[in-house]
Amino acid sequence: MPNSNTPLTAEKREKSMTPLNGKNTLTITDNRTGKQYEIPIEHDTIRAMDLRQIKVKDDDFGMMTYDPAFMNTAACKSKITFIDGDKGILRYRGYPIEQLAEKSNFLETAYLIIYGDLPARVQYEEWVNNVMMHTLIHENVKKFVDGFHYDAHPMGMLISSVAALSTFYTDAKNILDRDSRRLQIFRIVGKMPTLAAFAYRHSVGRPYVYPDNELSYAGNFLSMLFKMTELKYKVHPVLEHALDVLFILHADHEQNCSTSAMRNVGSSHVDPFAATAAAASALYGPLHGGANEAVLMMLDEIGTKNNVTAFIKLVKEGKERLMGFGHRVYKNYDPRAKVIKRLADEVFEVTGRNPKVDIALELERIALEDEYFIKRKLYPNVDFYSGLIYQAMGFPVEMFPVLFAIGRTPGWVAQWDEMLLDPEQKIARPRQLYLGHDIREYVMMGKREEPKKVKPEA
Ligand code: CMC
Repeated sequence: MPNSNTPLTAEKREKSMTPLNGKNTLTITDNRTGKQYEIPIEHDTIRAMDLRQIKVKDDDFGMMTYDPAFMNTAACKSKITFIDGDKGILRYRGYPIEQLAEKSNFLETAYLIIYGDLPARVQYEEWVNNVMMHTLIHENVKKFVDGFHYDAHPMGMLISSVAALSTFYTDAKNILDRDSRRLQIFRIVGKMPTLAAFAYRHSVGRPYVYPDNELSYAGNFLSMLFKMTELKYKVHPVLEHALDVLFILHADHEQNCSTSAMRNVGSSHVDPFAATAAAASALYGPLHGGANEAVLMMLDEIGTKNNVTAFIKLVKEGKERLMGFGHRVYKNYDPRAKVIKRLADEVFEVTGRNPKVDIALELERIALEDEYFIKRKLYPNVDFYSGLIYQAMGFPVEMFPVLFAIGRTPGWVAQWDEMLLDPEQKIARPRQLYLGHDIREYVMMGKREEPKKVKPEA
C-alpha cells in the first residue's frame, strides 16, 4: 500500500506490477554483516515483517521499523476512502467528495461508505427505514444523561452515553455474526444524533425532544435540538441541507486518529459501542475534531481584523498555532474546506453574516501569502470555516466536535466492519524500542536515596 501522499491509481497499480527490469523486489544490504536480502514489493510497499529476517546473530529479534505517529506505515488495506494529499483529492468508494456533497445526501453517502456502492431505490429506502427506526434510545439512557453535571461538555456526555449503550445491547458482542454487525450499525448511526441532542438539551436545561422520523436525518436532529413548544418543528431547508452536507464532508477520512482508534480498539473484538466511544474520545482532542471549537476560540482571542497581523507574528514565533490550518495528509488544499466555504455563504444568507468571518478571511489571506505557511504547505482545513457555519446556525462551540462525531460515525463503523472481515488483521499491538534501564535489583524503601529538594518555579 502506498502512503496517503502517493495515490494508488489503477494506472499506477498496473505499473508497480510490471516493473521496468521485470523485478518487483527491494534488495537490502546489511552493512553490519554484509548480507543481502531480497524483499518483495506489493503496491509500492514492503511488509514490515519481511525485515525481521535481518539479523546480526541468529538469536537477535530481527530488524523493525521505527515510525512514531505512523507517518509512513500502512496499517491496513482498505477500499473505502481514497485521499491524494498533494492534489487535494478525497473520494468515498471512488466518488469525488464534491459530487457527493452536491448530489447525494448523508444517509445515501453513509450507505455507500458502509456497503461499498450507491444504493438502488429499494435498498436506499430499506436502509433509511432501518436507521430511522433505531433513533429512539432506552428511557434509562435518558436518566443516565440526567446524571451529568449541568455544565458537562456534550462531547464527554456523548462519549460516555455511546459507551453505555454497550450495556443495553449485549447482543452487540457477537461481532463475528454478520446480521448482528448490521443491526449494531443501524443502531449506532441511528442513535448518535439522539444521544448528541439529549446531551445538548441537558446542558441548556431543556426537556428532551424525541425523534421525529417523518423528518430527514439532519432535519430530525435539528428538531431534537431546537424544538420548543410547537407541535411540529419546522425545519429550515437551507440549514437542513447545510448540516446534511457538513455530515457528508466528515463521513470518512481513511486512517485518521479516531478511525485508527476504532480499528485498534475494535481489533480486540470488543463490541462496536465501546469501540465507537474510543473513536469519539480520539476525535475530542483539539488536534483532531476539537479543532473547529479551537478555531472559534482563536477568532475570539484575536478579536478584530486589525489584530490579525500581530497574531500571525506570534504563530510564526511558535507562540501560537493557527487552528484550522494544516493537515497531516493534505499538503495542497483540503477539498472539504472549498465546499464548506461555498456553503458558508448560503447559510449566512439565512442567518446573517457571522462577524468573525472577516477575521477568518483576513487570517486566510495573510497566511496564504506568507512564506512561513507556504513553505510548510499549510492551508485551511475542514475545520477553518465549519465552526463559523455551526455558530451562525445557533450551535454552541461545545457542540462542534459532537457534530463532527455524528458525521464521522458511518466511516467508523464501515472501517470497523472492514477490519473484522480482513483475514490479515489481528489484535493491534505495536512494537516499541525499549530505551529504559537494564535489569536492576529491588531496593528496600529505607535504603533508597532521598529526592533532592527542588525550588518551586517562580
Ligand atoms: N499553525 C502554525 N504552524 C503549524 C501549523 C499550524 N496550524 N500546523 C503545522 N505547523 C508547522 C509546525 O510547527 C511545523 O513547523 P516546523 O517544521 O518549523 O517545526 C510544520 O508546520 C509541520 O507541522 P507538524 O506539526 O509536523 O504537522 P503534522 O502533520 O504533525 O500536524 C496538524 C498536522 C493538523 C496536527 C497540524 O497542522 C495542526 O496542529 N493544525 C492545527 C489543528 C487543526 O486545525 N486540526 C484539524 C485537522 S483537520 C480535521 C481532522 O481531520 O481532524
